[in-house]
Amino acid sequence: MTQIEGLNPFTPGTGQLPPYLAGRENEQGQFRQILAKISAGRSPDADIVMYGPRGMGKTVLLNWLKNEVKEYGTTDNPIRTSSATPNQLKNPAEMWGFLLSDDWLKNLPPDKMEFGVKGFLSGTWTKKGAPNQALLKDLISECKKNPLVFLLDEAHTMEPEQCLALLNLSQQVQNEAPFLLVLAGTPGLSHFLTTVGASFVERSKKMGIARLDAQATADAIVKPLNEHGIKIDDNTLAPVVEDSQHYPYFIQLWGEALWDLAKEKELQKLTYQEVTAAKTRVESVRLGFYSSRRRRLKDDGLLKVAADCAAIFQDQSRFKEVDLEKAIKDALPDNQSDERYESQVLRDLARHEFIWNPPDTDLYEAGIPSLMRYVLDKQREHIQN
Ligand SMILES: Nc1ncnc2c1ncn2[C@@H]1O[C@H](COP(=O)(O)OP(=O)(O)OP(=O)(O)O)[C@@H](O)[C@H]1O
Ligand SMILES: [Mg+2]
Repeated sequence: MTQIEGLNPFTPGTGQLPPYLAGRENEQGQFRQILAKISAGRSPDADIVMYGPRGMGKTVLLNWLKNEVKEYGTTDNPIRTSSATPNQLKNPAEMWGFLLSDDWLKNLPPDKMEFGVKGFLSGTWTKKGAPNQALLKDLISECKKNPLVFLLDEAHTMEPEQCLALLNLSQQVQNEAPFLLVLAGTPGLSHFLTTVGASFVERSKKMGIARLDAQATADAIVKPLNEHGIKIDDNTLAPVVEDSQHYPYFIQLWGEALWDLAKEKELQKLTYQEVTAAKTRVESVRLGFYSSRRRRLKDDGLLKVAADCAAIFQDQSRFKEVDLEKAIKDALPDNQSDERYESQVLRDLARHEFIWNPPDTDLYEAGIPSLMRYVLDKQREHIQN
């Protein structure tokens, strides 16, 4: 028996870099190419729109990118990063505060700042969606010296006007200097962007963040355990990988529970017994998670149709939109079913990420398959009682 040292490395929560960032080689490769380009003083080809259901790892990737930027740029001209969420950019002055460097803001006399940022901008930025020309010029010259990577998380919560202004600004800076805008948000983000009236957004680079594959899931759990001298063989791990559904948040829950058990029992090798005990811990957290998701569906009057949809997904994991609409239509009472209603239901379930359209396919799948099972089981219980 050896003592397992240190704190639990797993990070089930929001946005913290996991001990091993698994299965995102493709996205990381794409970002590295862009960083190489902007380090060389060139503009990226387009903004990046990162989208995916909650808990898939969008914020983690933004945090990874923020760290990775340090590897690029030169000592004289390092790349700057700035990150925000829309609620930190409630007015144009706040927006410029995130875009311009601290040095720039420091060197501005307070009276000029007051006038230059607040006065002028509230007139031009918010009303016409066009950025202040003087500040824009300064931002461009700053980016020529220090390229800027601006990360906006939860971008689906932007006001349309705020969003249009930012997209326009990004275009204008990119035309003259290396500037990368990365927007991250729920699957509805892509659609939201098309509604704000910036036609060029269609040419932005879409990066769908989906569940991991089985190998990446196994790596995300095993590598950090091994680093702490804890072993688990493939057969013992297989049910863990399956139960995690390859969903990053559940993967971290599993890792955390297994690590805790190894530490409590001072084990260097995990067996089926610990997997069973860890499952009980994972399940109790997961039930709270499912229950709050179910409540949100209930609040929107979508419980019954979500359960019907879940039943459809029990036999098949992916559907074409038309087939899913047809299946939903068949599940609805006659008086409720018409084409518009079915596509509205589909959109509502997608808004709740109960279903979603992963990247590189036009097929719909479950946001989290086990959540479907939970909603379905609860509905059946409800009918029986
Ligand atoms: N590639 C990965 N490998 C292992 N764990 C990951 C990975 N990506 C994310 N995680 C873990 O998954 C959880 C969710 O990640 P994150 O908060 O980044 O998701 P998100 O997509 O930003 O969710 P939300 O939309 O709710 O903000 C965290 O616990 C994180 O540590
Ligand atoms: Mg996030």
